[in-house]
Amino acid sequence: MRTIREIHEDELDELIRITVEAFPGMKVESRADRDRMRERLAKVMNEPIVHFFGVFEGAAMIGVMRCYDFTMKLRETRALVGGLGGVAVDLRHKKEHVAADMVRFYLDYYRQKGAALTALYPFRPDFYHRMGFGYGVKMNRYSFRPDALPAAGVGAVVDYLTADDRDDLAACYDRFLARTNGLIELSPHMLDALFDDTSARIVGYRQNGALRGYLVFRFEAAPGENWLTNNIQLRTLIYDDAAALLALLGFLRKQADQAGRIIYETQDETFHYLLDDPRDGSGNLLAGLWHQANTQGLGIMYRVIDAARLWAVLGDHDFGGVTLRMRLDLTDTFFPENAGSYLINVSEGRATLGSGTADVELGMDIADFSSLVVGAVDFERLQAYGRVNLSDAGMANVVNRFFAAGRRPWCLTHF
Ligand SMILES: CC(C)(COP(=O)(O)OP(=O)(O)OC[C@H]1O[C@@H](n2cnc3c(N)ncnc32)[C@H](O)[C@@H]1OP(=O)(O)O)[C@@H](O)C(=O)NCCC(=O)NCCS
Repeated sequence: MRTIREIHEDELDELIRITVEAFPGMKVESRADRDRMRERLAKVMNEPIVHFFGVFEGAAMIGVMRCYDFTMKLRETRALVGGLGGVAVDLRHKKEHVAADMVRFYLDYYRQKGAALTALYPFRPDFYHRMGFGYGVKMNRYSFRPDALPAAGVGAVVDYLTADDRDDLAACYDRFLARTNGLIELSPHMLDALFDDTSARIVGYRQNGALRGYLVFRFEAAPGENWLTNNIQLRTLIYDDAAALLALLGFLRKQADQAGRIIYETQDETFHYLLDDPRDGSGNLLAGLWHQANTQGLGIMYRVIDAARLWAVLGDHDFGGVTLRMRLDLTDTFFPENAGSYLINVSEGRATLGSGTADVELGMDIADFSSLVVGAVDFERLQAYGRVNLSDAGMANVVNRFFAAGRRPWCLTHF
């Protein structure tokens, strides 16, 4: 019989075997590599927000996954969101629905815990899209010369941050989170990992003693260059206001003599407004005279797991100020307990679950609905693509206002 349960520390070796065989690219090959991995995972599994699960047939572990109890900023609310990572199936047991069983278990686990939403980084977007996960906002990879950054903040004083600045850094991140959409709260072990990373430099900008912004970067060898030429990999850029941002960018600009280019991967799709020269150095022209400014990738995906509870979670959100009675028909073939017909009563933008007759009926799949609800896509686009069924085309503008994306969701947490 197949069971799924949290694994114990003395079962870590088996979890490591399955994980390493599933992800050979992790290059955990020697005994010492495995011991290091075991030591690290033994610590992680004791973090209160992390749960390691195994799939067992009898006594044999045949699949593993990691679940995370994240708190995510979803529109105006901080909500419990279940994260999934480290999904791996024993090579001998693929195509036996082990992964499907794990994902269903994970969705149900967080539904029971009271979450309305889950999130993951897919090894293949199509695999999880079929399971009802919707696309998040794309990642942009910018590559620019340091002197393309604004010079306004070059004179500002910045300094390295150390573990002593941990609370200030956490507070600065939290203020950024409060102003944005989609960010996940930093847990103590994530903060530890940041300060333990010896290759990362953390630079902060203070105003009257208060930390107003920070960035995290590391150097990387520039491809094909000699050892004196390096690039800067900018990992994180957090700021309270434009003054803090310009100060941090001023610091980066001053590295022009040492760094060939700055590589910045961000969901900020308008970052090029900050650059004198937004071209990414590839020299590529697209469709005639369009200069390649960044490349893009799809990553984080979201999934609503409790379409009824969602409206209570979003109780503080103003759905475009509209007043409307909308019947929402959701298909969810992978997690049918979530599928169904929901009557949403919207009064001056406040949405609650109700019953009775509707002014308009809207049908769609759970994956697109999930992208819509987090603000990753506009209703108008989904309608243009024929991905929704609206009973009255004349109501499209009102429904579009209801789903207005506002701030796109960003995620700065790797899991
Ligand atoms: C990728 C991996 C996890 C897949 O594991 P697996 O156990 O072989 O996958 P499953 O057998 O559960 O396949 C998924 C099933 O879900 C089913 N499924 C997907 N969406 C569905 C839906 N909406 N409704 C019903 N079933 C659905 C699929 O049809 C498939 O079943 P089928 O093969 O009978 O068609 C595994 O190959 C692996 O460990 N790979 C290496 C590591 C890796 O890449 N991990 C992923 C990290 S995120």
